[in-house]
Amino acid sequence: MAMIVRKGTLPSTPHTEFYAIPNVLAREEIHGSYGFSGAWSRKLHVRFYPTEQVKPPRKGEFDLVPEFPAEADVLQPYHIFTGRIPFEGDALSSRKPIVHGPRTSISVSKPTKSMPNDTFFRNGERHEVYFVQYGEGVVRSEYGDLKFRKDVYVAIPKGTTYRIDLTSPNAWFLVVESIYPITFAPHYLNKEGQATLMSPVVETEIETPELPPFKDARGEFAIDVKHSGGKITRITLGHHPFDLAGWEGALYPFVFDIKSHHGIAREIHTAPPMHQTFQSGNVPHSGFSLCSFVPVMAGWHPREVPAPYAHFNVDSDELMFFCNAFYGAREGVIEEGSFTFHPGSTPHSPQGNAAQRSLAARGKVQARLAVMLDTYFESMRITTQGFAFRDPDYVLSWSEKIQRAQPVGEGWESPSA
Ligand SMILES: [Fe+2]
Repeated sequence: MAMIVRKGTLPSTPHTEFYAIPNVLAREEIHGSYGFSGAWSRKLHVRFYPTEQVKPPRKGEFDLVPEFPAEADVLQPYHIFTGRIPFEGDALSSRKPIVHGPRTSISVSKPTKSMPNDTFFRNGERHEVYFVQYGEGVVRSEYGDLKFRKDVYVAIPKGTTYRIDLTSPNAWFLVVESIYPITFAPHYLNKEGQATLMSPVVETEIETPELPPFKDARGEFAIDVKHSGGKITRITLGHHPFDLAGWEGALYPFVFDIKSHHGIAREIHTAPPMHQTFQSGNVPHSGFSLCSFVPVMAGWHPREVPAPYAHFNVDSDELMFFCNAFYGAREGVIEEGSFTFHPGSTPHSPQGNAAQRSLAARGKVQARLAVMLDTYFESMRITTQGFAFRDPDYVLSWSEKIQRAQPVGEGWESPSA
């Protein structure tokens, strides 16, 4: 059973007309996923009909349709310097897809301002999770105001009408999209949907929207709706879309702090399933697992090798966003905001003498912080915008013939968290 949240009360106003929008997905459609915010049902009790368009819909002023360079057809691992993507625009206009697949996509958004007044966004085709690399602000939706800050995930279900207001000079988001609902991993939950005592994530640590008084406003309110593979259609309502009396249901946006993923340490290497925060789809048959690599004590067994071994995930493409450069396995290669893309059909590993150097990390807590996503039976492609910020030498970064800068005091010798 998912957690049920009820927000708001019916207002005592002359407007007595309420409209309930059922958005009920059959349980089979969510592939047995459990979660604290799941795609079971939701009802929005609004005061005016949200179907009242006062202008004909028109093509948006931009689109989010990914484009691919010819080089994307050559199989190779990629490294994208997302830190070098410029800050510009608002959270939506700044959004650039960097890798894309039929069911999963990842974009980067680095806005410098809030979205324009009275404009909103609705992703009509994919569920979203934003990871906030930095910045502060508020996601305003029909569910209420949801504050965000550095190092949090913001989960926004498909179909939510929202806008993003910044309260900091700029922000930096990694945006993950999936055609499937994005939920906490079901193996952490009991039959009632509560986190088990061994779970690294706990439902009581999510943050939910605060519903403000309803917006009783007439005018023109533009909603840019994403559909049909990234196309944008602008629809214009005659009433503010947040004229809600309240809402109820088990599908709503929420915030989860990556530091609330309480890492699990063992005397030997702890494999990535322990780092899983979210999943999407019918894992491990479709969708993805999303992992949080938080500071945690490395294995302390006297024969432990903290560096991961060379591997490839035959059914998965592996995508990783490095929140800082303190990642021993790729020391000297990555920087803050590095995003690596390892196709499932090619192996990867630490490079050089990283395994030897990692022995010094036994029993120590490093300051690493990273978000990783493994797709299942889905091949991703680098987009033109991702390709423009790639590390052209990345595929050679394991070569002993290539000398790269080796920063001291980072990676395996990183400051303790
Ligand atoms: Fe890997």
